[in-house]
Amino acid sequence: MGEGRTSRVIGALCAAAVLGIGALAMGAATAAPESSNRATHEGVASCAGSTCHSRQVDSGVNVRQNELITWQDPSSVAGAHSRAYRVVYEARGEAIARKMGLNADGVARQCLGCHSDPAAGGRGARFQSSDGVGCEACHGGSGAWLASHRTVTGTHADNISRGMRALENPKVRAGVCLDCHFGGSKPGQFVSHEIMAAGHPRVAFELDLFSSLQQHWDVDADYVKRKTYAGGVKTWAVGQAMALDRALTLYGTSGRGQGAFPELYFFDCHACHRQISDDPKARPQWQANPGRPIPAGTPPFNDENMIMLSAAAKVVAPALGARLDADSRAFHVALARDKAESVRAAAKLAATARALSDAFAARNFSRAETLAIVDAILQGEITRRYTDYAGSAQAVMAADTLLNAMANSGQVDRGAVSRMRPNLDRAYAQVRDPNNYRPDAFRASLTQVAQAARSLR
Ligand code: HEC
Ligand code: HEC
Ligand code: HEC
Ligand code: HEC
Repeated sequence: MGEGRTSRVIGALCAAAVLGIGALAMGAATAAPESSNRATHEGVASCAGSTCHSRQVDSGVNVRQNELITWQDPSSVAGAHSRAYRVVYEARGEAIARKMGLNADGVARQCLGCHSDPAAGGRGARFQSSDGVGCEACHGGSGAWLASHRTVTGTHADNISRGMRALENPKVRAGVCLDCHFGGSKPGQFVSHEIMAAGHPRVAFELDLFSSLQQHWDVDADYVKRKTYAGGVKTWAVGQAMALDRALTLYGTSGRGQGAFPELYFFDCHACHRQISDDPKARPQWQANPGRPIPAGTPPFNDENMIMLSAAAKVVAPALGARLDADSRAFHVALARDKAESVRAAAKLAATARALSDAFAARNFSRAETLAIVDAILQGEITRRYTDYAGSAQAVMAADTLLNAMANSGQVDRGAVSRMRPNLDRAYAQVRDPNNYRPDAFRASLTQVAQAARSLR
C-alpha cells in the first residue's frame, strides 16, 4: 500500500475526529454474523519472541514475523490497537468518563469491550487487558492452536479448524472489525449517543482502507497459495453490505434508546446538530435527498453504506440493486412514521444487504465493473444523495480504495492514480471538518475527481 495514501487519509480522518466533537457521523453497520470466539485468549506475550512474531525486521519465510513490532509502533496509525487501552485512561478518555460520571467499573463495562480484547472465551495466564486490542481480538483465541500452528505440519486449514479466524475472508473480517468499528450487541461494544455527547470521536470505518492502515502482512505468492486473496474491491463491497446489515440489525433488535427517543447513534448527526436561524433570508441547511423521501425536520437514518451499496449493486447486481433502493426508501419512510413499522422495514433491508454481501463474496470484479462503480459513486444521480457528512466521507474513502485496488492489481497504471492524488486530497479536505461540511462544495470536488478518473479508461 502506498505511503501517500496511508498518511493522507489518516490526516483527514484524524482531523475529523479531533475537530468534529460537536457533530459527527456514525459508521455503518452489519450484521448477521457478529464475531464470536470461545477459545482461551493466551495474551499478546504468547505471540511474542524473536522466533515468533516479534522479530525486529520483516524476515520471516512465510509471514513477516515482525507483526508485533508493527502492531505496537508508537509513531504510526498501525500501532493504534496497542494504544487502545491506554487512551481510555489518558486525558481525553478520562474527560469522557468524567462527563458520564463513570467510576472504574463503569469505564470497564462501557469502554473496554472495544478498547481491549474482551476475551469472551476466557483468559490464559499471560493475558492482560492493558495490552489493548491484542492479536487474539482479531485472530481469535489461540488456546487450541497456539502450540500446533508453529509446527511444520500446521496448515491454515488446521489452524482454522482449531478456532483461528479466517480473516482473509472479507465477511469474517468485516464481522470482527465492525464489533468495535461500528458496534455490536455484546457487552461494552456500543458507542451510544450518550458516549458521543461526552466527547467520543466519531467512529468512521471502511473495511479495505482500514485494513491497509493497520497492515502487518504481505499479500505475496505464498500468501495467495496458503489463503485466498479477495482483493480490495470485493473487500470494500462486502464491507459496505456487512456494515449496513450490522446497523440495521442493531437498530431493530437492540432495544436501545434514550427514554422516549430511539438511539441517536444510528442517525445523521448533523441533521440535529445545526445552527438555528429564524432569519427569513437564511438558507436552510437541509437538502432534499431522493434516496430518503422524508419530510424536512425528520431525523434521517445514517445512509452512508446504503449509498455505496447502491452504486456497487447497480453495476454488478442490478435486480438486487433495485430491491435495495426500494427497501431503503421504504425504511426511511417507515422511520418517519412508526417505530414498529421501521423495525420491520429494517429487517427487510438488512436481508437485502445480506443477499448483496453473498453476491459480492461469490464473484470477482472486472476492471470495467470497478471503473463503472467509481463512476456511479462520483457522478450522476447518486450525488444528489450526498446531503450529509457521513455519506460524503464514505464516498471519498470509496474512490480512494477502489482506485488503489485497481492500481495494486495492475488494472490501471499506478502513475495515473498518483496523478489523481491532488483531486482526491481536495475531496478529503471537504470532509476534514464535519462542522464545515457543505454539500454543494463537496459535490463540486467529487466532479473533479470524476473528471480525473476519466483518464483511466
Ligand atoms: C463500539 C466500540 C467502542 C466503545 C464502546 C468505545 N470506544 Fe472509544 N473508540 C472506538 C474506536 C473504533 C475509536 C477510534 C475511532 C477512529 O479513529 O476511527 C475510539 C477512539 C477513542 C478515543 C480517541 C483515541 C485517540 O487515539 O485519540 C478515546 C479517548 C476513546 N475512544 C475513549 C473511549 C471511552 C472513555 C469509552 C467508554 C466510555 C469508549 N471509548 C468506548 C471504539 C469504541
Ligand atoms: C485489528 C485486527 C488485528 C490485530 C489486532 C492483529 N491482526 Fe494480524 N491480521 C489481521 C488481518 C485482517 C490480517 C490479514 C488477513 C489474514 O491473512 O489473515 C492479518 C494477518 C496476520 C498474519 C498473516 C500473514 C500471512 O501471510 O498469512 C499474521 C502472522 C498476523 N496477522 C499476526 C498478528 C500478530 C502476531 C498480532 C499481534 C501482535 C496481530 N496479527 C494483530 C488483523 C489483525
Ligand atoms: C476489540 C475491538 C477492535 C477490533 C476487533 C478492531 N479494532 Fe480497530 N480500533 C479499535 C480501537 C478502540 C481503536 C482506537 C485506538 C486508538 O486510537 O487509540 C482502533 C483503531 C483502528 C485504526 C486506526 C484508526 C485511526 O483513525 O487512527 C485502524 C486503521 C483500525 N482500528 C482498523 C481495524 C481493522 C481493519 C479491524 C478488523 C480487522 C479492526 N480495527 C478491529 C478497536 C478494535
Ligand atoms: C435526533 C437528533 C440528534 C441526533 C441525530 C444526534 N444528536 Fe447529538 N444531541 C442531541 C441532543 C438533543 C443533545 C443534547 C443537547 C443538550 O443537552 O444541550 C445532543 C448532544 C450531543 C453532544 C453534546 C453537545 C454539548 O454541547 O453538550 C454531542 C457531542 C453530540 N450530541 C454528538 C452527536 C453525534 C456524534 C451524533 C451522531 C452519531 C449525534 N449527536 C446525533 C440530538 C441529536
